[in-house]
Amino acid sequence: MSKTLIKTFAPKLIAWHAISGRSGLPWLGNRDPYAVWVSEIMLQQTQVATVLERYPRFIKRFPTVKKLAAADIDEVLAEWAGLGYYSRARNLHACAKQVMAEFDGEFPGDPVLLEQLKGIGRSTAGAIAAFAFHERAPILDANVKRILARLFAIDGAIQEKAVNDQLWSLATDLLPIKPTDMPVYTQALMDFGATWCISRKPVCLGSEKKCPFTKDCRANLSDQVLLLPQKTKKTKSPEFNCDMLLIRWGNSVLLQKRPSKAIWGGLWSLPESPWVSRAAGTTEACLTPQELFKATLPEEKIAALTKACKSVIRVNEVKHVFTHRRLWMRIWQTNTPKELTFLNSDLKWVALSQLGRYGLPQPIKLLLQELSLVRDDDLKS
Ligand code: ADE
Repeated sequence: MSKTLIKTFAPKLIAWHAISGRSGLPWLGNRDPYAVWVSEIMLQQTQVATVLERYPRFIKRFPTVKKLAAADIDEVLAEWAGLGYYSRARNLHACAKQVMAEFDGEFPGDPVLLEQLKGIGRSTAGAIAAFAFHERAPILDANVKRILARLFAIDGAIQEKAVNDQLWSLATDLLPIKPTDMPVYTQALMDFGATWCISRKPVCLGSEKKCPFTKDCRANLSDQVLLLPQKTKKTKSPEFNCDMLLIRWGNSVLLQKRPSKAIWGGLWSLPESPWVSRAAGTTEACLTPQELFKATLPEEKIAALTKACKSVIRVNEVKHVFTHRRLWMRIWQTNTPKELTFLNSDLKWVALSQLGRYGLPQPIKLLLQELSLVRDDDLKS
């Protein structure tokens, strides 16, 4: 690697940030590891504009790691509702408990220790260590991988271990010398990857702005910018169908808590049937009430429900795209005139006015709003 680039990369990037980096982000300049950690986890799969709105709310609701650890997981999931990737919220809660139990409520500054905490990967550990503790720890998220693959014209697949190791080693070599430069350097790297050295329309290929690394970047010098990093071939994600039961009793709906390891784990949703591959299943079949109850609810209630609910109507079909699969949810609605009690604590009647207290998957929340079962206010916590 060019010795000059090792020396000049960090100062050039920091100078770039002073003029073209993002400013006014509320977590910038904050050295409280708790606040830094929450913002980094929230920013992992959520757009900055959304985080700007939701991060202050989260910190207000759970101002310290102690308060977060002491909260009920349902409160945390309800606060996270709408942000997606709910394992982040479950991991935040588990990690807060871990920090209380294993580190006496103080986040460690060593990235190796941070990485042992629930939900914190190597790059996030580096970011927290850099922002909160001024540690000379590298980050390597997808944007940084792209910057480095271009800068050094690395043409192997970035998922391969050898290539990944090479990128970590480069990320370490390029760090600034002064620990106090770590926060601005780390933020600059994130901003440069998110706004200038972007995947499809990087600044170097336009005519409006001048990238500070045009003369250093091997991909630019050899006209390979759009070819790097090497793209992985995307396989089409599998598709599934499932039936969901929207059963009402007066002003309440029956909700089921999802198993923590499943998709939308720990959130409250409508009782649902097992998923079947869309290729194998028929999508148009009409179900009888009994078939529907059998597919979605515990055996013990099926007879009573079939007696109480004379008909089911299919009210909607909702498609939801996850990162690795697509799901079509067929929604069937029915009413029961009397309360049926469920022994299973994962099933309960929830008053429409109380829905805001529960974390619901976003498409289910939208569906209930769309079907005018709830007012927006009922879904606000
Ligand atoms: N993505 C992850 N961390 C970030 C940060 N600190 N600022 C902007 N985007 C980010």
